[in-house]
Amino acid sequence: MKSPKRHLVTSALPYANGPIHIGHIAGAYLPADIYVRYLRGKEKDVAFICGSDEHGAAITLRAKKEGKTPREIVDYYHKLMGDAFRDFGISFDEYYRTSSPEHIEMSQQIFLELKEKGVFETHRSEQYFDAEAQQFLADRYITGTCPKCSNEKAYGDQCEKCGSTLSPTELINPVSTLSGSTPVLKETTHWYLPMQHHSKWVRDFIENGKLNGEEHHDASKWKSHVVGQCLSWIDGGLQARAMTRDLDWGVPVPGEDGKVLYVWLDAPIGYITNTKVWAEKNGKNWEDYWKNDETELVHFIGKDNIVFHCIIFPIILKAHEGFNLPVNVPANEFMNLEGDKISTSRNWAVWLHEYLEDFPNRQDEMRYVLASIMPEQKDSEFTWNDFKDRVNNELADIVGNFVNRVFVLTHKYYGGKVSNPSFDASAQFEEAQAAFNQIGEKIETYRFREAQVLAIQLARIGNKLLTETEPWKLQKTEPEKTEGILNACIQLVAALSVALEPFLPFTAKKLKTGLQWEGLKWDEVNVFQLIPAGHAIGEMPILFQKITDEEVAAQVAKLEASKLQPEVEMESIKPNVSFEDFQNMDLRIAEVLEAQRVPKTKKLLQLKLRVGTEERTVISGIAESYEPEQVVGKQVLYLANLAPREIKGVASSGMILMAENNKGELSLLSPERPVESGNTVR
Ligand code: MF3
Ligand code: ZN
Repeated sequence: MKSPKRHLVTSALPYANGPIHIGHIAGAYLPADIYVRYLRGKEKDVAFICGSDEHGAAITLRAKKEGKTPREIVDYYHKLMGDAFRDFGISFDEYYRTSSPEHIEMSQQIFLELKEKGVFETHRSEQYFDAEAQQFLADRYITGTCPKCSNEKAYGDQCEKCGSTLSPTELINPVSTLSGSTPVLKETTHWYLPMQHHSKWVRDFIENGKLNGEEHHDASKWKSHVVGQCLSWIDGGLQARAMTRDLDWGVPVPGEDGKVLYVWLDAPIGYITNTKVWAEKNGKNWEDYWKNDETELVHFIGKDNIVFHCIIFPIILKAHEGFNLPVNVPANEFMNLEGDKISTSRNWAVWLHEYLEDFPNRQDEMRYVLASIMPEQKDSEFTWNDFKDRVNNELADIVGNFVNRVFVLTHKYYGGKVSNPSFDASAQFEEAQAAFNQIGEKIETYRFREAQVLAIQLARIGNKLLTETEPWKLQKTEPEKTEGILNACIQLVAALSVALEPFLPFTAKKLKTGLQWEGLKWDEVNVFQLIPAGHAIGEMPILFQKITDEEVAAQVAKLEASKLQPEVEMESIKPNVSFEDFQNMDLRIAEVLEAQRVPKTKKLLQLKLRVGTEERTVISGIAESYEPEQVVGKQVLYLANLAPREIKGVASSGMILMAENNKGELSLLSPERPVESGNTVR
């Protein structure tokens, strides 16, 4: 294939329902950023597009849990994520949002055009409905047992354990995540994408890289786990998939009340919207990037997004006609953390915004480590100890040490002027040039780990030269050779400042500033002659501070602490009751007069209460949290008119009300200041 005129590079639009963690970064953002920075270094015309994914159950369920509106949730996380990406040096050209008016317009327009072309079918079908919450249950609103792997926590759209794509009716023992109740089936009508009609060309596209019988991309360059996942999905038989939902948060389906577009239809269209928003700000034409076969589209994603980007979205794009399909989707696998799967809900993560606070101005340290362990072909693991080792032994001891020695000696011996090239360093230069040239090949084939190793190789070559020749010992006896060695080292630092830019942009900038050199385009780098003798260099700060054992311990402790307080899913709030219903409850302050354990039980206390002029006997399940003597004399909150029941042979009237913390400890609710017992609570 000939070299493309333009590049459109996207990173998965993250759900605006929680902060970004290092697993996200290693999966879809850092590899894309390296790729794009490299292309920019080659002066390519490239647009790097991302943004937040602000629709779908991920957002509404989070809003419900936090007692906020979806709008409040997405506004908060859009900014938090966008700021963290920017501060970490992820160099998006555009980071926009799918709840924007521009996006509503774009996705509605595309939906209508597809509808017009007859791409969808409508089906009336029975779908799960939560009668308590009065809502249809699609996707993450429903959980149950996965029919493929028996994971009991599979979602209605996907099992995160085995990766299967599911539909709610396939779940065994479905449960509503809204109310916890068992859903019922109810009729509704939706627009479906009949994917089965597309299996033939989709297979040819994935397997052979062909589109409309012509070569579209080099299929051998696709990662095998990506192709494998797609083919097993196609082999399983593509099915019609609903493209609309009965929800109120999302892109409204034009002309339909109470229906919105399926989030996996609207979100990838966000790539298009955000490209258009960027193009309009920058005097460009967005269609050059989306509807032009001289532009190459590459999607960077995590493995849970594969079928959406390789099958469903391409079907949409092709059906619409004129849109480019991706030439590659280099999905990454997952990165684990300290022996466990990263999990937002269990709070087991290193959050990017917290890293940036805990380690200010040390973005490149984390970028380096994440690129070193990027889960390119299989799952990988981040640990803080490994982070420390890599930063200290590789960045500080190799890159930092090399650059520092070169600057110190050049200032000491030559007053900060680049010395003469009076030493034959052609062996080192050749090795360095070969490494440099290979970086590009590796990046172009999405081997970012190897590419970074090659970039660091330039510093290793320089370090080795210094260690072998020891110019600090030669200076007196062989001044010419010493000059030549340091000249060679300066060339290597200059080459390093270009080579590191995609990976460690903050360091690359410090190198160029220190060299007082503006750098070169990627293809112009010739290590043999980058900076002329006599050129004045500036100061070089210490590039990498070593990570201390204390810093590691503090981060590990922070993680462990989050494990002690698991974020418990808040019980959902029940449907409304009328004021009359509430008034029918007779709530009172009562005083505990006597307490004793109910024999042969662990949990129960028998209490005698004073309620004004009356005395009541009540059995209460608090014995695991209170000893009998602890409750005598306490005032408590008492539901007086709950119908009496017999418990363990004792007639219990009414009920004591209690709160429970996440450890399962019960707490009596006493009035803030003394109240006459028997008084009502309202
Ligand atoms: N929000 C999705 C996720 O985090 C990714 C959406 S990618 C897009 O898994 F293509 F839909 F934008
Ligand atoms: Zn499963």
